[in-house]
Amino acid sequence: MIKIGLVGFGFMGSMHAVCYKEIPGTKIVAVAGLKNESDREVIGEDVTVYETGMELIENADVDVIDICLPTFLHTSHAVAAMKKGRKVFLEKPACLTKEECELLLKTQQETGATVQVGHLIRFWDEYKYIKEVYDERKYGEIVSATFRRRSAHPAWTFNNWLHDPAKSGTVVHDMHIHDADFVRYLLGEPDKFTASAARDEHGLISHFFSTFYYKNARISFEACWDFPEDFAFDASFCVKFEKATIIFEADKFKIYYEGGGCEDIVLENTFKAKTDLGGNISSLGGYYNEIKYFIDKISNGEEPVVAPLSEGVKSVLLMLDEIESVGGAKI
Ligand SMILES: NC(=O)c1ccc[n+]([C@@H]2O[C@H](COP(=O)([O-])OP(=O)(O)OC[C@H]3O[C@@H](n4cnc5c(N)ncnc54)[C@H](O)[C@@H]3O)[C@@H](O)[C@H]2O)c1
Repeated sequence: MIKIGLVGFGFMGSMHAVCYKEIPGTKIVAVAGLKNESDREVIGEDVTVYETGMELIENADVDVIDICLPTFLHTSHAVAAMKKGRKVFLEKPACLTKEECELLLKTQQETGATVQVGHLIRFWDEYKYIKEVYDERKYGEIVSATFRRRSAHPAWTFNNWLHDPAKSGTVVHDMHIHDADFVRYLLGEPDKFTASAARDEHGLISHFFSTFYYKNARISFEACWDFPEDFAFDASFCVKFEKATIIFEADKFKIYYEGGGCEDIVLENTFKAKTDLGGNISSLGGYYNEIKYFIDKISNGEEPVVAPLSEGVKSVLLMLDEIESVGGAKI
């Protein structure tokens, strides 16, 4: 049995808890940072509850520390967990600053700890499909693509931490990174990029646009979290290959062939959770897939290679460059 210590039990911590319930051979034995008394019912009675993440890391007898804390707390807790000899699942973004990137990598090198970052888009079925058909060059090269991720103003977070750039890094670290990281996974580092940002009344980036330039492809991104409260979260993409174009939006996942014809793409064996935690995310598939992969890897004594710490750090560094190019997170 792999014993899990879950640190942070807000929006993402509760998602992870649902996933572990469906992964045989795992058990959450300790939790820190419950928001409500009712959370105790969700996690069950035989779980030790700690007030803070650091107390859990110091005292709990666990194999894995799963960190679902506000982003500004990632590095301190991941470093403590690595030093304690634990395997670490660290929510995205791995961290916020260049110094934190260096500290995380240095600690991993010193301790030899296994760390996977929660870049779940690398495990999300429709995005995985794009990676697979591209790697096989089934429809030729990628010519162009757009990736979009839009949300209403996030209002649920602990002490409103998402709205403090020193704590969240803005919509760039929090939302744009999902798609930018996936495109890095698909095509590697861009040769160059251009970016622009709309800002809120406090001067914080709230709506971000950028384009990555590759030798033969242009990829554009849109990420925002400034839409009115009734707007339901959406994430979509359109990828044009030489021989076909694939579109994913809402319930539509479709391929249009050059020369004519189109059809729905039907994915087999996608994971459907028994519990839907909302957020307009109909299936917990990506979350389940990434955690299942991590657990399978550590069960087999292997290192996770799809979203290791080194990759999470590279994506953060790219976000920092993009933010710098538009004049900073706040002006
Ligand atoms: N992969 C994804 O799709 C995705 C989606 C949302 C959030 N996230 C990431 O997950 C992380 C958490 O985001 P969230 O939306 O769940 O935030 P949240 O505010 O809903 O939850 C944070 C939790 O941490 C707890 N906490 C705060 N300080 C603590 C401490 N010192 N010790 C223990 N617990 C403490 C709070 O009580 C709260 O329960 C962020 O890094 C965010 O970027 C990832």
